[in-house]
Amino acid sequence: MKGIILAGGAGTRLYPLTKVTSKQLLPVYDKPMIYYPLSVLMLAGIRDILLISTPSDLPNFERLLGDGSQFGVHISYKVQEVPNGLAQAFVIGEDFINGDSCALVLGDNIFYGSGLSHILKDAVKSAENGYATIFGYYVNDPERFGIMEVEEGTMKIKSVQEKPKHPRSNYCITGLYFYDKRVVELAKKVKPSKRGEYEITSLNALYLRKKSLKGTILGRGFAWLDAGTVDSLITASEFVQMAESRQGIKISAPEEIAYHYHWISKEELLASAEMYGSSPYGQHLKNVAEGKYLY
Ligand code: DAU
Repeated sequence: MKGIILAGGAGTRLYPLTKVTSKQLLPVYDKPMIYYPLSVLMLAGIRDILLISTPSDLPNFERLLGDGSQFGVHISYKVQEVPNGLAQAFVIGEDFINGDSCALVLGDNIFYGSGLSHILKDAVKSAENGYATIFGYYVNDPERFGIMEVEEGTMKIKSVQEKPKHPRSNYCITGLYFYDKRVVELAKKVKPSKRGEYEITSLNALYLRKKSLKGTILGRGFAWLDAGTVDSLITASEFVQMAESRQGIKISAPEEIAYHYHWISKEELLASAEMYGSSPYGQHLKNVAEGKYLY
């Protein structure tokens, strides 16, 4: 199973913050935003990752994340010349995907909650068995998002809509998607929408038509944050700060996940901790290496 992080777009909703840097490199409390979606793919057990961004921002992601070996994964990079839709990620990533199943996570989406890795691993299994999985989250402003209409009781998806004027449900489709090996072939069939974008919702609709789309609701125990606006960015930072200081943990520290999954050794973890210097993040990695946390 492969994984793509889509971290492009103009970020104009955050201007002037994003005038000279990528939104997905902005801080969410104590770490760059990109660490959060990267951690989600890693929690799913995905180790072969493609990061897609704009021509000007891509070099900065490469400087930050390198080849991924410090996280026990392999990260490669590709440019999206024009931000003309999320479904394009699979066309850009065709060679990388190479006929495999593939997940996509948006670079500005943050997921947190107990049991997340189990849910993710179920989605990986489904993708390997010919299904796509999308994740629903109850919101009060569904017209701002992709929406899934779900049959009560069976939880089967009845329809998907992109930013509908009259939403059929309050279940927003979050920016995390798992697809089977047909994904490139189907993504190529997506036609531009009225606003001229290759919508991920159109790809989901193709899977739904083939009766291959599963929906999982992320319930009360989960936090989902889309850090794409000034207010949601600070809300995300406050959330992470509150959860981390209260529990003395770190949310979405890729090195910690890698160590926990035995993808890197204690020596490698300590080398990363050293590299982060005297920051609380570096200190946390040292604590993890010294066995201060129970898993
Ligand atoms: O966050 C979840 C929502 O993400 C879903 O509910 C929607 O169905 C989905 O369309 C998307 O909606 P957004 O309005 O958030 O899409 P936006 O155009 O803002 O793009 C999401 C992120 O992806 C953003 O960080 C920029 C990046 N992006 C976007 C496009 C269109 C790219 O990297 N390339 C692109 O071509």
